[in-house]
Amino acid sequence: MRIVKSTKQMQKLALQWRQQGKSVGFVPTMGALHDGHLSLICKAHQKNDITVVSVFVNPLQFGPKEDFNKYPRTLLQDKKLCEQSGCDVLFIPSVDDFYGDDFQTTVTAGALGELLEGASRPGHFDGVCTVVLKLLQQTLPTVLYLGQKDYQQACILKQMVSDLNLPLKVQVLPIVREKDGLAMSSRNRYLSSHQREQALLLHKTLKEMRRRLVLGERQAAVLKRRTKAQISATQGIQLDYVECLDASSMAPLKRLKGAVVILIAAKVGKTRLIDNIRLNVP
Ligand code: PAF
Repeated sequence: MRIVKSTKQMQKLALQWRQQGKSVGFVPTMGALHDGHLSLICKAHQKNDITVVSVFVNPLQFGPKEDFNKYPRTLLQDKKLCEQSGCDVLFIPSVDDFYGDDFQTTVTAGALGELLEGASRPGHFDGVCTVVLKLLQQTLPTVLYLGQKDYQQACILKQMVSDLNLPLKVQVLPIVREKDGLAMSSRNRYLSSHQREQALLLHKTLKEMRRRLVLGERQAAVLKRRTKAQISATQGIQLDYVECLDASSMAPLKRLKGAVVILIAAKVGKTRLIDNIRLNVP
């Protein structure tokens, strides 16, 4: 596995691959890699000639009161995991090289970027779109691999790829969960063992909503009411939102039908966690 630190060097390599007609799978990450990331890297490795993984904690997507400085940085471990999962090039630019002194141009995520996560984290998705567009320009991939756990992020990035005519495919892979159901996340390591137990409630309530759907409940308000009540009865967890949306447009649904996604976000202690399930409702 080769390590590339310079953005110029990365783009030079990517241009060579393009000339050689090689397919490139790209997995953007902020490091602190877990099995969710590794499933993306393994898929990229299976399906492409070259697999590139970036590890870059992007300051532009963190709000002033968020955890940019505290965000876990585990580069040594990340290098090992990348190598074991079939990564060919690990791209680790510095913030100075990546944004330079005179950086001015940013991408705006649009209406989708203002809902849900975007409402709680203003500017977050503009930062995500900007960094991902730059990373795509530097790595020139054939396929961009993303995880379903960040469902809204994946929808926004698909929209950006389509709106800006970027010549690549986006592939979104399923959420990887711990044995007990907790969705894997780099932020899970902030949780104490008691909080980790409490965090299971996110997936449990999603499963409960799915069970009630299977039993015939179709009203979003009814499904949401029960979840809200269950979470507000639990000390230490603060629900941000639970929403039932159309899986492709992310429009809110009153009555659940067709391809649906249920998204949930909550703070467990100081840690903000998200989770979701996608289902087809007959
Ligand atoms: O999902 C993440 O880890 C980040 O938002 C991403 C896509 C790597 C952009 O910084």
